[in-house]
Amino acid sequence: MLVDSNLHFGDAHHHGDHSSKIVIKNLDFWYPGEKHALKNVNLEISDREVTALIGPSGCGKSTLLRCLNRMNDEILGCRLEGEILLRGRSIYDSGIEVSKLRRHFGWVAQVPNPFPKSVYDNVAYGAHIHGLCGSQKELDEWVEQCLLAANLWDEVKDRLQEQGTELSGGQMQRLCIARALALKPEVLLMDEPCSALDPLATAKVEELIDKLKRHYSIVIITHNMQQAARIAQRTAFFHLGELLEHGDTEDIFMNPKNEKCQAYVTGRYG
Ligand SMILES: Nc1ncnc2c1ncn2[C@@H]1O[C@H](COP(=O)(O)OP(=O)(O)OP(=O)(O)O)[C@@H](O)[C@H]1O
Ligand SMILES: [Mg+2]
Repeated sequence: MLVDSNLHFGDAHHHGDHSSKIVIKNLDFWYPGEKHALKNVNLEISDREVTALIGPSGCGKSTLLRCLNRMNDEILGCRLEGEILLRGRSIYDSGIEVSKLRRHFGWVAQVPNPFPKSVYDNVAYGAHIHGLCGSQKELDEWVEQCLLAANLWDEVKDRLQEQGTELSGGQMQRLCIARALALKPEVLLMDEPCSALDPLATAKVEELIDKLKRHYSIVIITHNMQQAARIAQRTAFFHLGELLEHGDTEDIFMNPKNEKCQAYVTGRYG
């Protein structure tokens, strides 16, 4: 049966438990030239929890993150097999509108990348484009709410008309998170969001992630094992495109069963 082309995933924000938000089933992914980047990955990503993706450089972490919001679709000649379900519905079904699907996923990049616009416009832009706010007053309120949610409001409430790019690195990253929240996503995808930040700015982003997990499902890639241990409830270890171990973060760090995973989390293999 053909899927409704508008793909109504419904209202996502009122689950009380940690049920699976995303289910990845037998996922294989090839870049052009038969570069096999993900190999039979099976993983469930819970609602209202932080899942850390860890593993040595080139193991496929970013590739997996980009499969989740179909960003890899833009690569000509790539190939995907298997399934990814968002609340039980396959996101790769024909008939799904990718632009609508992507709004369910907020994206936070490695290097803070605010638009060359004011702080206010960075947050308002997407909400305005997507018609999420009816009036100027509503938009003002939404911008404030998103900046509050991103733990940034107090620092920028008197600087709303300054360029977003004039903020500090840590503030810019929280602005990018506010910008992502403005589109009312249900999943936040973060690819090494703190790797360009100093320890203090990193601590603030970690604190924010910890708060946001009450309302969102968060998937974060990190090379910082302490960070994974601090903020993630679940951790998945990848190696050469394979998911070798996953589970509760504590088990992965304190009692890893896979030899390569153990070597990696104890810093003997990078
Ligand atoms: N656009 C692309 N075209 C072809 N191959 C790619 C492309 N992007 C990534 N790859 C390859 O796919 C594999 C997985 O890359 P990916 O970027 O997912 O790794 P990663 O785990 O995120 O690494 P890192 O920790 O260095 O960011 C690597 O071998 C990489 O060279
Ligand atoms: Mg990467």
